[in-house]
Amino acid sequence: MLAPRTLEIIQSTVPVLKVHGEAITTRFYQRLFESHPGLRDVFNQARQREGKQQAALANAVYAAAQNIARLEAILPAVVSIAHKHRGLGVQAEHYPLVGEHLLAAIREVLGEAATPEILGAWAEAYQEIASVFIAVERDLYAKAHAQAGGWPGFRRFVVANTWRTEDPRATVFELRPEDGQPLAAFTPGQYLTVKVSPPGDARTHLRHVPLVPVGEEGVYRLQLKRAEQADEALDFLHQHVRAGDVLLASVPAGVTSSR
Ligand code: HEM
Repeated sequence: MLAPRTLEIIQSTVPVLKVHGEAITTRFYQRLFESHPGLRDVFNQARQREGKQQAALANAVYAAAQNIARLEAILPAVVSIAHKHRGLGVQAEHYPLVGEHLLAAIREVLGEAATPEILGAWAEAYQEIASVFIAVERDLYAKAHAQAGGWPGFRRFVVANTWRTEDPRATVFELRPEDGQPLAAFTPGQYLTVKVSPPGDARTHLRHVPLVPVGEEGVYRLQLKRAEQADEALDFLHQHVRAGDVLLASVPAGVTSSR
């Protein structure tokens, strides 16, 4: 539990950070990718280019900070994000890196206004928020592996069939696990996080693709909708991935939409 003075500092500085939101998040990602280039494979670079999604992480940290005295109030939002993180493979050890670069970006952008007291308060708040995410994600990883048909990390799937729907931007993929073993069940609203490596592209890419019901065991059916903007991973899946190809995917993730 944070001290009352720390809470006061956090609550009074959130609006200031929001004003500088774009500058802070831009610096944050530059720093993060410069120091850990491998994280470019984890973050969606198409969304980064678009710039829209960039603020999501920092904004979520501010929203959590605003509710720091009662984090349970934002638990549903944390759980939904944690599902995405688990699908992507975000690990507990990534949190200090994100915290370090977010704080450094705040310090750079605010300059002298970022006093040691303010930075200290934010470091404490970030740690508290991160520990909630880490705990929720630890539980999700354990369940993903332990459930019937579950698995750790990414599993190989053979594309059994693909077809276009009436919507020319949509493709359906039927996937069967290469190992022929049972598959974890999924519920409405869940998705598979798919890892693709287009030929000639040095990066791997992760995308969340919605699962659609299929009346047969041992098969997943994905319905992929191509984005309006160029997206190297979605475009590759849509145009080039066909029956016989192999895709990697983690256990179905996502909060059930009927809940
Ligand atoms: C307390 C710290 C964190 C918060 C509050 C946070 C929050 C968020 C939010 C709000 C999203 C968007 C979810 C959506 O699209 O619905 C997101 C996505 C994501 N987060 Fe986090 N996150 C945190 C830590 C991390 C860490 C440590 C990593 C790993 C390096 C990470 C990697 C990602 C990635 C890769 C995405 C997918 C978005 C994209 O690729 O554009 N996050 N996070």
